[in-house]
Amino acid sequence: MASQLLAKKPLDAIMAEASETGEHALRRSLGPINLITLGIGAIIGTGIFTLTGVAAAMYAGPAVVLSFVVAGIGCIFAGLCYAEFASMIPIAGSAYTYGYATLGELVAWIIGWALVLEYAFGAATVAVGFSGYVSSLVGFFGLKLPFNPKPVPSLSLFGYALSAKVDIFAFVAIIIVTTVLVIGVRESANFNSAAVMIKVSVVLIFIGLAANFAFANWTHMVTNWHPFIPTNLGHFGQFGLSGIMRGAGLVFFAYIGFDAVSTAAQESRNPQKDMPFGILGSLIICTVLYILVSGLLTGVKNYTTLMTPAPVADGAAAIGVHWGILVIDIGAIAGLASVMLVMLLGQSRVLYTMSHDGLLPPWVGKIHPRFRTPYLTSIAVGIFVAFLAAFFPIAFLGKLVSLGTLLAFTIVCLGVWIMRVRRPDVPRPFRTPLVPLVPILGMIVSVALMLSLDLPAWIGFGSWMIFGLIIYFSYSRKHSTVQLDIARAAGRPGPK
Ligand code: ALA
Repeated sequence: MASQLLAKKPLDAIMAEASETGEHALRRSLGPINLITLGIGAIIGTGIFTLTGVAAAMYAGPAVVLSFVVAGIGCIFAGLCYAEFASMIPIAGSAYTYGYATLGELVAWIIGWALVLEYAFGAATVAVGFSGYVSSLVGFFGLKLPFNPKPVPSLSLFGYALSAKVDIFAFVAIIIVTTVLVIGVRESANFNSAAVMIKVSVVLIFIGLAANFAFANWTHMVTNWHPFIPTNLGHFGQFGLSGIMRGAGLVFFAYIGFDAVSTAAQESRNPQKDMPFGILGSLIICTVLYILVSGLLTGVKNYTTLMTPAPVADGAAAIGVHWGILVIDIGAIAGLASVMLVMLLGQSRVLYTMSHDGLLPPWVGKIHPRFRTPYLTSIAVGIFVAFLAAFFPIAFLGKLVSLGTLLAFTIVCLGVWIMRVRRPDVPRPFRTPLVPLVPILGMIVSVALMLSLDLPAWIGFGSWMIFGLIIYFSYSRKHSTVQLDIARAAGRPGPK
């Protein structure tokens, strides 16, 4: 049994799969610029547009800037590890596949299941942020809707407010994005490029407006930045240094997505050269933008007033630039749509790979004959995510996503180190510098961010992982193609 759980997918098989061609292959249509836009498309989103406000108001105050720095440093370490794996094993499935090759099937399953938190729950979190900006836009025009677009909290789960009404905008957004994805990746990538340009322009416009305001109103900014690190309120995570860490655990969400580049490896034309370029390039650009936006936003508007559905648009309102509100609302809406797209794309590709390995039923990996997309799984995931987005509060979803992703990052960092020791012979077009220091630092920062999150988020995370283990032991282990191959080679009928 223990040896079954540790069964590793042979690297040769993975490489062969990566170069698979023919009827069942995914289309190779993405070049280096597509990959960097795919990365930025996944990265800039609800994290900066919405969670900055939550983290500043609830945990860190103006020091949310430092939260972004801490989370960004962790991501750069993990990103360096991801880049080595993505260039070495260029296959859809990312961290899941890396885990399968290095730490065995059970760990691979745990990563794959954690990645559902990252991508599916992540798309739901973004949809709630999206809905906030749609509401802000509706409010801008002073329109009255025949329904309440934002849900009214009425129930409570682990101390979080649950809504009795449906967040209609979030729900519909996920359904539309799912439809785009089913039609095909090339069309989706084009839409993504346009959205990324709009999104980056909007972020730069906010930075420009706020910097201009700062020069003319320096005293106002300094007053809002004071105290830069508000005094701790007596509990871990409520301001002070622990607040910076808890804020970092939440705004870590803002960096998630660079690893989605690696899930597109199978659809990339030259994965070995372009993967590290896409991952690290998009990460560095976003880190700089986040530090500027969060620093300026907390100067323009006092942190205590930032707990709103559309804080960056509210920042433009505080500056007094009316057209800025409109531009930011529209840009955020387009930008957040692109994030939902990349996350749901990543999700369906991970599940596709897991089904290919027999860990999930065959229908999950079924490719549409004309669109060449894993359409059934895209539709199933889309419906699940639409319901999550409709009913759950953003902070709870965001923290679950951070926990799942940080777990995957920790295992990836460990995997890079293990592979360097066990298989130094495998060609690595991109090598993580200073191994094992960088992987160790990546693990330390990731685990520290996980530990800084609150108990309710941990309860949700633990429940999700236990649910995953039940599926693994009742279905996946018995249908694993790796296990079958091992059993056949040993003359046994199959895993029990
Ligand atoms: N990084 C992405 C966002 O902030 C997930 O929306």
